Amino acid sequence: MATVRIENLGVTLEGEPGWNLLECSLLREVDHPHDCGGNCACSTCKVVVVAGGGNLSPQAEDERDTLDAYGWDPGAYRLACQCVIQGEGEIVIRLPE
Ligand code: FES
Repeated sequence: MATVRIENLGVTLEGEPGWNLLECSLLREVDHPHDCGGNCACSTCKVVVVAGGGNLSPQAEDERDTLDAYGWDPGAYRLACQCVIQGEGEIVIRLPE
């Protein structure tokens, strides 16, 4: 079990390895934007990973391409729908305003 803290919402969630961060939010009823339904095609689920990025799957080329296509720096943002929880530690993220 990993802990996912959404810093700017003051919410802490528990997430299973194998879930992505968007699934984690939605299963815990956090209102997390996801216009394309988690298909790496819209960028609305983007988050800033503040800490614990080593507990997430690495950024793949299609994730980078989608962020870039919508004008978001792939070095600064991740797509929550593409970040699969891989560890048991704490992950801290922020949802952009
Ligand atoms: S929900 Fe659209 S890119 Fe993640």
